[in-house]
Amino acid sequence: MQNEMTEKNNSELPNHVGIIMDGNGRWAENLGLMRSAGHLAGVKTLKQIIKTAVNINLKTLTVYAFSTENWKRPHTEVDFLMHLFSEYLEKEKRELNEKNVKIHFIGRINELPQSLISQAHDAEEMMKKNTGLKFNVATNYGGQDEIVRATKKIAEKILNGELKIDEIDAKIFESQLDTVGDPPIDLLIRTGGDLRISNFMLWQSAYSEFWFTETNFPEFTPEEFLKALKDFSKRDRRFGNVKTSQTKG
Ligand code: FPP
Repeated sequence: MQNEMTEKNNSELPNHVGIIMDGNGRWAENLGLMRSAGHLAGVKTLKQIIKTAVNINLKTLTVYAFSTENWKRPHTEVDFLMHLFSEYLEKEKRELNEKNVKIHFIGRINELPQSLISQAHDAEEMMKKNTGLKFNVATNYGGQDEIVRATKKIAEKILNGELKIDEIDAKIFESQLDTVGDPPIDLLIRTGGDLRISNFMLWQSAYSEFWFTETNFPEFTPEEFLKALKDFSKRDRRFGNVKTSQTKG
């Protein structure tokens, strides 16, 4: 299936895929394991998804690693996740770099543990000239928070005379988002069976196609990822317009 997708016309590929990696905890609990085992298994899945994304020349992948609301979890789980992200960077950054991946952290990064902030900066620095897959890791990220932060930056520009109110448009607004320069999300995948967006990429998913699956993230395979991409290629995207064949002239 991967070959089939690789050989396909790349224009049918989404430019930007977002993944809400949900269901780690439930997967582990169903097996009588600690929730942390689910997050560990999630890392394995993520590695496979990145490998596939690189193989098919996907341009941009954004994953939801930790939300602004996830701090409400028991502190042992929060600590575990912070260590896991740190370990992931330590172990994977060389390979990601070799794969020409360009990692970027989005969200309120400066509120993460200091050691993780440094590692994130180092990894970004290491990969900043790479031209392959742009890999955004949303960590301490919330879509509403991102929009509020962008609004504040715009207000500041108005106050210091850099910008006029009439000049604000969608393009200016996007230029202040964490995903500046990235295409909008074409395909948003959520694993774990819930049918909601959970404060992820609120602006960027205005015209996204959605793929919801019952599969918990640890069991989400490259095959299912490719299935979602294949399904995407058949979607009829109109962006508020009508079908080309229905338009006059
Ligand atoms: C949601 O599942 C998942 C998270 C909050 C953490 C996501 C982290 C990973 C997949 C680890 C790999 C990520 C990186 C960047 C190395 P959940 O715990 O909410 O599952 P549940 O809904 O079943 O409780």
